[in-house]
Amino acid sequence: MSLWYGGDYNPEQWDPAVWKEDVDLMRQAGVNLVTVGVFSWSSLEPAPGEYDFAWLDQVLDLLHDGGVKVDLATPTASPPPWFSRLHPEALPVTADGVRLTHGSRDTYCVCAPAYRDAARGIARALAERYDDHPALAMWHVHNEYGTTCYCTFAAERFRGWLRERYGSLDRLNEAWTTAFWSQRYAEWADIEPPRATQYLVNPTQYLDYRRFWSDELLAAYLDQKAVLREHSAAPITTNFVFGGWVPVNHARWAAEVDVVAIDHYPDHAGIGAEEQTAFGADLARAWAGGKPWLLMEQAAGGLNTGERWHTKEPGRMARHSLSHVARGSRGALFFQWRASRGGAEMYHSAMVPHAGADSARFREVAQLGSVLPRLAEVAGSTVVAEVAILWDAECWWAMQGTHLPSSSLDYLAAVRSAHRHFWHADVTVDFAAPDADLSSYRVVVVPSLYLVSDETAENLAAYVESGGQLVVGYFSGIVDPDVRVRLGGYPGAFAELLGVRVEEFHPLSGEVALASGGRGRVWSEDVEAVSAEVVDRYAGGVLDGKPAVTRRQVGTGTAWYVSTELDDDTAADLVSRLAGAGRSAGGLVETVRRRDGGVTWVFFINHGDADAVVPAVGTELVAGAAVNGELVVPAGGYAVVREA
Ligand code: GAL
Repeated sequence: MSLWYGGDYNPEQWDPAVWKEDVDLMRQAGVNLVTVGVFSWSSLEPAPGEYDFAWLDQVLDLLHDGGVKVDLATPTASPPPWFSRLHPEALPVTADGVRLTHGSRDTYCVCAPAYRDAARGIARALAERYDDHPALAMWHVHNEYGTTCYCTFAAERFRGWLRERYGSLDRLNEAWTTAFWSQRYAEWADIEPPRATQYLVNPTQYLDYRRFWSDELLAAYLDQKAVLREHSAAPITTNFVFGGWVPVNHARWAAEVDVVAIDHYPDHAGIGAEEQTAFGADLARAWAGGKPWLLMEQAAGGLNTGERWHTKEPGRMARHSLSHVARGSRGALFFQWRASRGGAEMYHSAMVPHAGADSARFREVAQLGSVLPRLAEVAGSTVVAEVAILWDAECWWAMQGTHLPSSSLDYLAAVRSAHRHFWHADVTVDFAAPDADLSSYRVVVVPSLYLVSDETAENLAAYVESGGQLVVGYFSGIVDPDVRVRLGGYPGAFAELLGVRVEEFHPLSGEVALASGGRGRVWSEDVEAVSAEVVDRYAGGVLDGKPAVTRRQVGTGTAWYVSTELDDDTAADLVSRLAGAGRSAGGLVETVRRRDGGVTWVFFINHGDADAVVPAVGTELVAGAAVNGELVVPAGGYAVVREA
């Protein structure tokens, strides 16, 4: 098993004379896998049903001769202009009712029959031609499924999905609480997607549209997967993209891909980008069920995220790559191989920058390419984690509705902050699905699990009963899967387990002091400790003296409730109390342990600007040297030790 190294290769943007140089440079850089054809539909099918495969034949042969494997893409994320001319009805419509035009990418609706036919058509043509090409390692369906549409095809499919889910209009009316604001439906045909409307949208209609859209996109992926599978036994995947705009339940999709693949472009400033790298990698590993997954895209250097330009200082690209690999990725791939000369993303960094191969960026790329083969032995191992954080896409979507008591409530921010606290304590965490078997974890953290099913509540209760330490964050357990409040006092589904009862929320605009000396932010609640012990209290303000943090013994475990967003120091105290941890080396060394049977490896990634000394015994794989107790990880550098 080896680690994959490479990126998106878009030869159709270049003169054939460049292709030969590309392959030579790929060899120099240690590239062994490239994704080809992601956006090449108009080059492959210049007119309806007329294919031009000659150039792709040549490219794949060249790559094969150079020892580079191919992750062959179906180009369906960007239909050619002729498709939009012939099928204007397949162009996407925004929630505001604007039909978008051609000229960017993702200008289609997955619900449009003509689009689905055309996508199957080009996938079939590729599968028939390249199923036995020796360079083919993997199929890459589409690119970053996520684009939403609100057209009439989508409305029709939505109604079908709702009929399946609810069976009857009575049941739908109840789930959607349509008695509120006179929304009661008497005909299925009256139901529309949550398009732009006068005021706040129905929360359940909004959530159901996201659930529906995830299923609909998945159906479009499965269409292509079936076509490819008819012709080829190669693994099939698609690259997951993560973001608030993406209605894809990746945890559910993961069952349909042969390897979970993610694209990751951290956009936080400073050390936030490293925290975010670990966050995205840990999520990918959770979707992959703990098994190896693949970083399909990242930036080799700078990129513009719309808000600002993100730089990757020397060494940072390698550290991010290593952090992904440490956390389970089968390699490190980039968007893209060669920086485009024109087009919308011409200033996006690449493995070969505009300056050419005689550049610091390319030398750094080649350097990393020379290191990864030395780490190949970790490829099949799994990450060791004793702490889990719950992740639920549906809860996130529910909290993206416009009905919440405070616009500061933010599911993703709450989960990120929990993850960040453990990252800063250098404790590796897994993300876990609400229905996962949690018994192997010492600690399970549940940030703002606003929407929760009875089954999830039971799963968490059973975890505590049998000895687990559960930490439930504020604004959890409030609504059921229909986004209807669980009556009788918050935190509804968890009130009994936590031994607390809350009658009223107190969203915060600033901070509130805690008796321990810490501070709470974002949110507070009027907590009554019914059968829980009070760990910390609010000090001052309307909740003066009321419980802020509580703890209850249940069976052989403990259930904590944290009713506010703790400041970093207070959260760090709680983390070390729960996980008994702290950075051993001080500074900013990220430590991740991997295991395969009796063999363990430790990754040390030093994000700080001072050398760090870490305890280690074994063989350091990058330098190939024995380590006998202490290892210096240079500032901005990394080391990987196979433990003795
Ligand atoms: C990804 C996408 C690539 C490229 C990249 C730029 O989301 O798949 O095609 O656009 O972003 O960062």
